Amino acid sequence: MNQGLKKQQAADAAIELIEPGMSLGVGTGSTVNCFIDKLPRVADRIAAVAASSHETRRRLEAAGFTVSELSETGDLDLYVDGADEANKHFHLVKGGGGALTREKVLAAASRRFACIIDDSKWVATLGKFPLPVEVVPMAQSYVARQMVRARGQPILRKGFVTDNGNAILDVHNLAITHPLDLETRFNQIAGVVTVGIFAHRPADIILMATDAGIKRFDRR
Ligand code: 5RP
Repeated sequence: MNQGLKKQQAADAAIELIEPGMSLGVGTGSTVNCFIDKLPRVADRIAAVAASSHETRRRLEAAGFTVSELSETGDLDLYVDGADEANKHFHLVKGGGGALTREKVLAAASRRFACIIDDSKWVATLGKFPLPVEVVPMAQSYVARQMVRARGQPILRKGFVTDNGNAILDVHNLAITHPLDLETRFNQIAGVVTVGIFAHRPADIILMATDAGIKRFDRR
């Protein structure tokens, strides 16, 4: 089965999690775009919806939804988002689409976080995918030097500005063997806005599309 079909499958599985009266947070990326395309089917079940990026807001509005700010919705019942990598501890690397800061906020503010992936994202150790780190622009070279000290190879995402007006460093060649510790450590670096490790707020549910169908993992 090709990756496009797997993304559709994962999106279908996430649609089934939506119960009547739910407030919903929506992530960013190509897998989530499949989810947004299917969302009008269950529009009558959704009490409010918040978006993790300008792009997601635009797509939700095009699909007929009124998008609320998190300050209006309060905590959300369910957050649905993709990931660049996921492991069996429900730790993720995110931010390939550059929306990691708002994604982390929505995940933090949600009672349940369902991560939708295809099986190419499943890894034993995080870090093969370059770790996105959102940085305040004037701090980018300072933060880059700290990443080199941590034995990473930071590359500035050229021509990219986040929805928050910041830059992204993609940090290559980090073996993220202790995701909780590294997330904490990188969060301490002055000028870092958000680290793309989602370990302190991991996924609660992973819906992974495989050739054999959807595999669902629930965190206890
Ligand atoms: C965006 C993200 C995405 O969830 C991640 O990049 C996966 O995207 P895709 O579904 O296109 O593979 O973190 O910031």
